[in-house]
Amino acid sequence: MTETLRILRPDDWHLHLRDGAMMKAVLPETARHFARAIIMPNLVPPVVTSSDAAAYRDRILGALPAEQSFEPLMTLYLTEETDPEDVAAAHESGLIKAVKLYPAGATTNSASGVRNFDRVRPVLERMADIGLPLCVHGEVTSSEVDIFDREAVFIDEVLDPLRRSTPGLRVVMEHLTTREGVEYAREGGPDLAATITTHHLVINRNHLLVGGIKPHYYCLPVAKREEHRLALRAAATSGDPSFFLGTDSAPHPDRLKEHACGCAGCFTATNTLSILAEVFEADDALHQLETFTSLNGPQFYRLPPNAEHITLRKGAPNEYPSHISAGDEQVTVFDPGFPLHWHVEP
Ligand code: NCD
Ligand code: ZN
Repeated sequence: MTETLRILRPDDWHLHLRDGAMMKAVLPETARHFARAIIMPNLVPPVVTSSDAAAYRDRILGALPAEQSFEPLMTLYLTEETDPEDVAAAHESGLIKAVKLYPAGATTNSASGVRNFDRVRPVLERMADIGLPLCVHGEVTSSEVDIFDREAVFIDEVLDPLRRSTPGLRVVMEHLTTREGVEYAREGGPDLAATITTHHLVINRNHLLVGGIKPHYYCLPVAKREEHRLALRAAATSGDPSFFLGTDSAPHPDRLKEHACGCAGCFTATNTLSILAEVFEADDALHQLETFTSLNGPQFYRLPPNAEHITLRKGAPNEYPSHISAGDEQVTVFDPGFPLHWHVEP
């Protein structure tokens, strides 16, 4: 039986760090285990221009504890006013590694997102020319479409036409939640990939809704039926280069999660690697953990994998905190509902 696992240091290809006191609280939780992360730009106001991204990167590095090292991989929030020249210059200088597409209204802080895709066509064409990936929140937002169907409908009605009309555009389908998404990503060739979160490998919609509503399991895209969770598990543990870890760790204060209109987002930065080791072990796939957390992401983003390693060791269950403090607020750490035996060695 495997008791230790040495893997290249992981990266997180989808992370919400927020700003201010919240960022100060959550950044060390990620930097403890991860070398780099794609930083989502959905602040209020969003990170839209290259100068917004440079300022945000400096605030992140300024909040990083002196004893930690971490590289934020910045993104821009695509709006209908985004200037292709600004995007290209930010890519050329190395400042940004992707642009994020939020359909307007799809999720937390997405009001400035895209309504009319014709208006972002010049940016997308420029991105295809320069090889800059588009990270896509893949849900339609029309009120007629059931929330559980929004990802599958997005693929057919928005993503597939968009990719056909922009040949060469490199796309990451963010936080996949469906079998349809897995199949589409798997068959999309070298210009298409997908991130999978930790929590979507663990919970289905029953965990969210049966026996009382569990606000800390509410995220977007919302967890689907068990068959979809199993498709995600199979994809993540397969070693297929189309799939890599993007935790979508998305902290919100508990008072806004435990609320009549609770915010979407699961905070998983603290215990993600222990959960993933448990999940991969349960599926007899510990040998694929490094591929999912540390190799497939850099390969898609055309970056070298990290040089350092981390070691996971199996032992008595971990004592992770149930909450972390962020200024005056508390943030609940995602509870996978099973004991975590894998420790990340300091
Ligand atoms: C994210 C957030 O809180 O910023 N929430 C979530 O449920 N995943 C936004 C997002 O990634 O959709
Ligand atoms: Zn997200």
